[in-house]
Amino acid sequence: RKGKTPEEVVKRYLQKVRNPPEEDCTICMEALSGPSGYKGPGVGGISRAESVGRLTQCGHQYHLQCLVAMYNNGNKDGSLQCPTCKTIYGVKTGNQPPGKMEYHVIPHSLPGHPDCKAIRIIYNIPPGIQGPEHPNPGKPFTARGFPRHCYLPDSEKGRKVLRLLLVAWDRRLIFSVGTSSTTGESDTVIWNEVHHKTEFGSNLTGHGYPDPAHLDNVLEELKAQGITEDDTATK
Ligand code: APR
Ligand code: ZN
Repeated sequence: RKGKTPEEVVKRYLQKVRNPPEEDCTICMEALSGPSGYKGPGVGGISRAESVGRLTQCGHQYHLQCLVAMYNNGNKDGSLQCPTCKTIYGVKTGNQPPGKMEYHVIPHSLPGHPDCKAIRIIYNIPPGIQGPEHPNPGKPFTARGFPRHCYLPDSEKGRKVLRLLLVAWDRRLIFSVGTSSTTGESDTVIWNEVHHKTEFGSNLTGHGYPDPAHLDNVLEELKAQGITEDDTATK
């Protein structure tokens, strides 16, 4: 995907719409039958502000310029997410800083999972300097509470979640850099949109066991990041 312009990337996921419907583009709120309302940099190469495209899988329609502007506002990884239904085109990646993910089985059971042992995941991310993909490039970021320990039941479903979390880690989707909603600190490493259980034998924070819905919730959250069992198929 290197060398592809933002317009080329976006067009890969679009079919051209010749007769736009009498609806508004939900990105710019202007009529699809008229020009894009997007006024800003980065869409200079696009000839017509009237161009409209339909996303190939979900069918949602937008001005081409609006989609290119949206793509340019993200981390430009060659993927695109429909702002209406969140369908992901290509492979979504995040801006998780460099670090380490490790895991091992521990010989204890989690509350609610008496029949199996537990998996402990250990995430370690050191503080550093923000890159161009972060909110304040060039500025330092802090990293609190690392190593962070997380737990899964060592069951079939727990191991499936682990496999998908390993994919999420590789795609830099487990953590991000931003403002912690717990502490209010900005420019710090924070959990991204995939929940983890950080308590082992108790549930004082709400991030512990038992929680019968946890594994299904995490699978849904991973799916929202574009990660499913298909991504772990061994070749
Ligand atoms: N354990 C697991 N998840 C948590 C925790 C926690 N202790 N606290 C918050 N979260 C979840 C929130 O529910 C939310 O969905 O992380 C998401 C982001 O919340 P932030 O407070 O912005 O995240 P962060 O600052 O990274 O986490 C706060 O979590 O693991 C601990 O050491 C960490 O004390 C820190 C706390
Ligand atoms: Zn538009």
